[in-house]
Amino acid sequence: MNNAFLKSFKTLRQVYADKAFSSVALNNTLFNCKKQDKALITKIVYGVLDNDIRLEYIISRNVRKMPKADTLLYLKIGVYCLAELSIPIYTVVNDIAELSKLSGDRRIVGFVNATLKSVSQNAKDFDDYPENEEEYLSVKYSYPLWALKKLIKDYGKDTAARIVSHIYDHRTTARFVSAVDTAQIAERYGVEAQASVFEDGFYIKGNLPNDSADYTLQSLSSMAVARICASVTPQSGKFLDCCAAPGGKSIYVKQLLPNVEATACDIYPHRVNLIDGYARRMNVAVRTVCKDMTENEPSWNERFDTVLCDVPCSGFGVLDNRPDIKLFRQNKDISELMKLQYAILDNCSRYVAQGGSLVYSTCTVFDNENGQNIRKFLKEHPQFAYGTICLEQFPSANGEGYYQFLPHKDGVQGFYVAVLQRIG
Ligand SMILES: C[S@@+](CC[C@H](N)C(=O)[O-])C[C@H]1O[C@@H](n2cnc3c(N)ncnc32)[C@H](O)[C@@H]1O
Repeated sequence: MNNAFLKSFKTLRQVYADKAFSSVALNNTLFNCKKQDKALITKIVYGVLDNDIRLEYIISRNVRKMPKADTLLYLKIGVYCLAELSIPIYTVVNDIAELSKLSGDRRIVGFVNATLKSVSQNAKDFDDYPENEEEYLSVKYSYPLWALKKLIKDYGKDTAARIVSHIYDHRTTARFVSAVDTAQIAERYGVEAQASVFEDGFYIKGNLPNDSADYTLQSLSSMAVARICASVTPQSGKFLDCCAAPGGKSIYVKQLLPNVEATACDIYPHRVNLIDGYARRMNVAVRTVCKDMTENEPSWNERFDTVLCDVPCSGFGVLDNRPDIKLFRQNKDISELMKLQYAILDNCSRYVAQGGSLVYSTCTVFDNENGQNIRKFLKEHPQFAYGTICLEQFPSANGEGYYQFLPHKDGVQGFYVAVLQRIG
């Protein structure tokens, strides 16, 4: 049996059937996997998830009735390989039919074989999309229709089309604690590095060894939010990260401002442990607290110079890492998330000292979770006003107290930041 197809199927099954995070499931698979299969498995796993709606559309045009779960998954892998990878048709059809023997049902094997043959004979279907403009974009870029409609409402048709059609480059970024250049990274760690907008952030090709205090894998968007927090925090001030796990932003703030007193909270004990472990590895002192940040802690009121609310969100700005978000998020989740986001922001705003800063961030692109929450907050909290975003690497973000980063425009993941200042 084709090993790469088998491992891809098992990984994708964990995502589709058990709702595992794609990045976690894939990392586990790659951990014990032959070197020569790694690239193909990664391509298939991310490719199938990222193209889910389009693959189902192609399959639906070649079957009388959509098959269920595992059978559909055999077909998705097969159709993705036929449409996007240069693997011979014969190999794809035969090897996926062979894979479907896992079902133990000869009828399924026959169905998979016949459907993939039909798809390969109708290859023109790969570029055949619905005529309706919104459905066209939804199928072509496998972006859920409800989410696309939201983007059109928030940004207009042209920008929405740019957002959904953006092709992520999936490059890993790492942040180095001491000053290094690309040649030193190559020499010390045996990986290829390329400079990013931040002098301490690099695009990395290859695998950095784990467990080092010298560097950490961190996205440029996460670095940007931490830098914005550091820019509004006094050198020896008090910093509170309300939704902190796994700790990327708290730890970076503490490294940027070593004299700051940093407190990092999260609601889940196992996630607080992640912050502790991460801080230990990076040799950074961060006080951690396990706490529901929608509930007030009176002794913290007006105690912190900077309060960061990096709230749970729909994640539509980080689809490069988590294409599974497009599969499982639903429109109805957004209003629940908005309530939680607002409750955290509302409560944690009390912890900001006079003249201090409240930073709100998400890794999503929907106005509901971003600007709408902030506009409502400012209306209900006249003691706050927009502050200033200072991020020299992104001049367009500076000026207003809020900014929506978009991949096609800013070259980073989609995320939102607002800096509010306590003026009363
Ligand atoms: C976007 S993640 C934070 C990422 C983190 N700031 C970082 O940079 O590594 C949101 C976090 O909020 C936590 N969370 C969810 N509800 C919460 C609540 N009511 N109080 C505190 N934390 C909460 C989640 O457990 C999750 O770890």
